[in-house]
Amino acid sequence: MTMSMSICTQLGAKIPPRCYLMDQSKTFLNLQKTHSMPPEKKEVFKSLDKWAVKNLLPLIKPVEKSWQPHDLLPDSSLPADEFIDQVKALKDRTAELPDDYLVVLVGGMITEEALPTYQTWVNGLDGIGDETGSSLTPWAIWTRSWTAEENRHGDLLKTYLYLSGRVDMRMIEKTIHYLIGTGVDVGTENNAYMGFVYTSFQERATFVTHGNIARMAKERGDLVLAQICGTIAADEKRHKNAYVRIVEKLLEVDSSETMMAIANMMRRKITMPAHLMHDGQDPRLFDHYSAVAQRIGVYSTDDYADILEFLIRRWKLEKLEGLTSEGQRAQEFVCKLAPRIRRLQERLDLRASKINHKFSWIFNKEVSL
Ligand SMILES: [Fe+2]
Ligand SMILES: [Fe+2]
Repeated sequence: MTMSMSICTQLGAKIPPRCYLMDQSKTFLNLQKTHSMPPEKKEVFKSLDKWAVKNLLPLIKPVEKSWQPHDLLPDSSLPADEFIDQVKALKDRTAELPDDYLVVLVGGMITEEALPTYQTWVNGLDGIGDETGSSLTPWAIWTRSWTAEENRHGDLLKTYLYLSGRVDMRMIEKTIHYLIGTGVDVGTENNAYMGFVYTSFQERATFVTHGNIARMAKERGDLVLAQICGTIAADEKRHKNAYVRIVEKLLEVDSSETMMAIANMMRRKITMPAHLMHDGQDPRLFDHYSAVAQRIGVYSTDDYADILEFLIRRWKLEKLEGLTSEGQRAQEFVCKLAPRIRRLQERLDLRASKINHKFSWIFNKEVSL
């Protein structure tokens, strides 16, 4: 009996896919820690309501001034022959995109498509969650607007890839189905301090990823795809600015607790939100997709270290004063971490083996990892 069987059996007679995935990713349901933020800390967020109205909500872009997916896709309102000409042009542009590039683009799109999971996760953060689905706290208004903006990313990329004909849409749709059913476990413990540290890091990571995918599309001659990914990257940057601003404010009003939240998140590593992805075939799909992203230079360990250094500078963590002794230990750990990550990666690079892997998303064609 495998490890996954034994844990799943304890949870019930039927083995749900979630359990299978949780075991495959070495994340165990019974190790999930919840509600670690002291209840009185909810008041910190309440005391920041006015600040959030003034400093957070202006970072939402009005709908009337926002782009929509259809602006960047073949215009379906045109007469059939003109619309089909635009689709043909899209297919021509995407015909030569390399398979490894497509794998990374698909992985990014699937990550965006699991958006319902992320909104659920944010609303589970103590002190800032949307309690009714239409709550009027600035935190809830922000989260709904952020979700609405994010919703366009998956829509746009998925439609573009569908029209390209280069990818196996059914396998991609299955992966999205599995992923939303499985959820996300990034270890933030319903703690809003840790949640906002996570989103600061993760939005910057998505900005870097989409920016690199845009650059590569341009190099490969698909200027529309470059514009699409560049447009998405601009959204991610604005979202990153919002979350970074929240953590900056938390550092001002509650420096030790915030510093410890940053250290906690960095100790457990910032896991990308789609880390539990599965296509029904490859139990290590996320690892394989990440390996390709690292190899072609879309998102690497160097980027991870760069993001950490960016946040340390942006939040002026090295200069933080007045911390408790625990806060000081957290500060020391975080401020010395980036060089350690880079050294570890250099050692892993030396050991890297060149192997090929089949991805169902591109009709089981092989791509080197
Ligand atoms: Fe996004
Ligand atoms: Fe985002």
